[in-house]
Amino acid sequence: DEQKQQHKARIKQLLQEKNAVLVAHYYTDPEIQALAEETGGCVADSLEMARFGARQENADMIIVAGVRFMGETAKILTPEKTVVMPTLEATCSLDVGCPIDEFSRFCDQHPDRKVVVYANTSTAVKARADWIVTSSCALEIIEHLDSEGEKIIWGPDKHLGSYIQNQTGADMIMWNGACIVHDEFKTKALKDMKALHPDAAVLVHPESPAEIVELADAVGSTSQLIKAAQTMDNKKFIVATDRGIFYKMQQLCPEKEFFEAPTAGEGATCKSCAHCPWMAMNGLKAIEEALIDPQGKEVFVDMELRQGALRSLNRMLDFTA
Ligand code: 13P
Ligand code: SF4
Repeated sequence: DEQKQQHKARIKQLLQEKNAVLVAHYYTDPEIQALAEETGGCVADSLEMARFGARQENADMIIVAGVRFMGETAKILTPEKTVVMPTLEATCSLDVGCPIDEFSRFCDQHPDRKVVVYANTSTAVKARADWIVTSSCALEIIEHLDSEGEKIIWGPDKHLGSYIQNQTGADMIMWNGACIVHDEFKTKALKDMKALHPDAAVLVHPESPAEIVELADAVGSTSQLIKAAQTMDNKKFIVATDRGIFYKMQQLCPEKEFFEAPTAGEGATCKSCAHCPWMAMNGLKAIEEALIDPQGKEVFVDMELRQGALRSLNRMLDFTA
């Protein structure tokens, strides 16, 4: 604990020295989220992280505590800044499961369709897309495209894609990707838990399988689930998403009770149960090291790909402005 305090103190000093700002996702560990808040940075969902980074006109450096695509998005939006991550190894199963060559061939087979990709992808995949979406705005954007009569290629998250297809009735063909964290929530165990807490509302991130979404009282992105926890009258909530989100829910609703939705296994038997192993790489020590020496932790994107990715990212940012 004393060691953590030392890391925190050094990080605070280094952030000032380097004129850097810390941006963290709701799935990072509580101490990282707290540090981002204490130092004038931000804790946010993936859409707001992108917006926040783009607004930091006076900062020279952005530290992105999250996963690789979030760092790349920050670099795409502010290429003149130094963007660093506690570790560049922090990837995402959706990004890994959607390599550009295969995805591009898939798109080439359906030239009559608009390509809509989730933000959890590489810069190259973003550049191949017509639109980027995050879970906060995916529904609205697909509704908009559907209303214009567009047919859609959706990638990479099949669960989020199916959820949106069910909600909108849009004509979508889908890439077969999934989030290893949300894929672990178990239907029968969740039903049992609901029976045990009949007064609890079930909050579900739409990266979860359809049978889990069906049991939800509210479905949405991380920021939308936090809103739901605040605005719903229930005193208890069962939450099917990364447990990192409990930090903000508990902070905003200290009088309410939050339970993790059940997963396949516990601890060592399940590396991705309710906590993303890549989000977990964003520790205090790694942040301090990245500030001291950004080498090997700095995010770079190919400048040609950046142009394409920026175009589709800006479409999302303009649409949701
Ligand atoms: P949101 O914060 O946009 O809901 O995204 C969740 C996510 O997949 C981050 O890994
Ligand atoms: Fe990717 Fe899932 Fe981890 Fe989010 S929680 S970064 S979607 S693997």
